[in-house]
Amino acid sequence: MDQIKDLGGRRQDLARLFQGQVPVLSLAPMQDITDFPFWKLMTRYGGADLYFTEYFRVTPDYKPEKSILRSITENPTGRPAIAQIIGNDAVAMARVARELERHEVAAIDLNLGCPAPVVYRKCAGGGLLRDLPRIDALLGRLRDAIDGAFTVKTRVGFESAGEFDALLEVFSRHSLDLVTVHGRTVAEKYGPQVHHDCIAQAVRLLPCPVQANGSVTSARSALAAIEFTGAAGLMIGRGAIRNPWVFSQIRDAFAGREVVFPKGHDVLTYIEELYAAVCQPGYPERMQIQKMKKYMNFLGEGLEDAVRFLHDIRRCDTRADFFGICFTHLNHDKPIALEPVGAVCAG
Ligand SMILES: Cc1cc2nc3c(=O)[nH]c(=O)nc-3n(C[C@H](O)[C@H](O)[C@H](O)COP(=O)(O)O)c2cc1C
Repeated sequence: MDQIKDLGGRRQDLARLFQGQVPVLSLAPMQDITDFPFWKLMTRYGGADLYFTEYFRVTPDYKPEKSILRSITENPTGRPAIAQIIGNDAVAMARVARELERHEVAAIDLNLGCPAPVVYRKCAGGGLLRDLPRIDALLGRLRDAIDGAFTVKTRVGFESAGEFDALLEVFSRHSLDLVTVHGRTVAEKYGPQVHHDCIAQAVRLLPCPVQANGSVTSARSALAAIEFTGAAGLMIGRGAIRNPWVFSQIRDAFAGREVVFPKGHDVLTYIEELYAAVCQPGYPERMQIQKMKKYMNFLGEGLEDAVRFLHDIRRCDTRADFFGICFTHLNHDKPIALEPVGAVCAG
């Protein structure tokens, strides 16, 4: 009950977090990736200022999964955590939001961006962006149900960024506490272009803080994204899997300090720590390697010989082979930027 009394205070806490001079850095929600062990590992590398859970996929009889809930109830980061929900059943979502608010969450976040066909075809996640009246009604219902902070993570449209104006109008009606804009449409999935102009427009038009999201992969791209958009925060997803130092590097850049790149050996140690963190004891080796491949798909893109690394990693299935490949590519002391080839911040 004490926690429930604090709900109004949570809105103020979130607002205060975004009032600082430097942008707030958030770890993006990524299903099956940014779980409890991953959050814990991130903190060893400097970590984010704010964490978003993987989504709770709400259906009429849904009960929050213990594995995701653990990130909130045992939050290992020492930083605020936001619980993300996805779905389209307003009654069930309001119920689950209230249930989640009984825990130590900084806010409830609504996912309006997931581009997976299995989700969007059911008019959830990014699929809702095709139905603005339904978003309007859902936001109204959730805003009424949620006593603490209520936030939205959205893409800039379903088919076209031209849809964003109307979406912003809907958002501005609902007293949201934060909007994170992933600057791509659902149709663009994870394509190369990020519509920073849309993020800048959200910053200008919305009464709440806005976070910029999409292909922030380095201190350089972070500075460029903030300069272009004026956003109060940056959300980082794949860039953090690839380069867990990215949060510290961005803080250094904003403080005018030199940005230090990790060396090959440092990255090797990170992969060993990741293996130890995310792999369950007693899990079959083959499955542990499968799980590591998910992370390596992103990390590999930042290595000098990305094509060869990814080719070899995708074909290995023993621990010895896995680490043998990592060793071949990373047994050196050269600094690595850990950015995918051609990473840019275009307006
Ligand atoms: C594997 C994976 C899983 C994701 N899962 C979620 C999710 O559960 N909720 C969500 O809002 N976005 C999810 N996203 C999208 C990210 O949060 C983020 O918006 C997107 O990756 C763009 O940011 P980035 O370029 O920094 O990676 C996921 C992305 C990836 C790659």
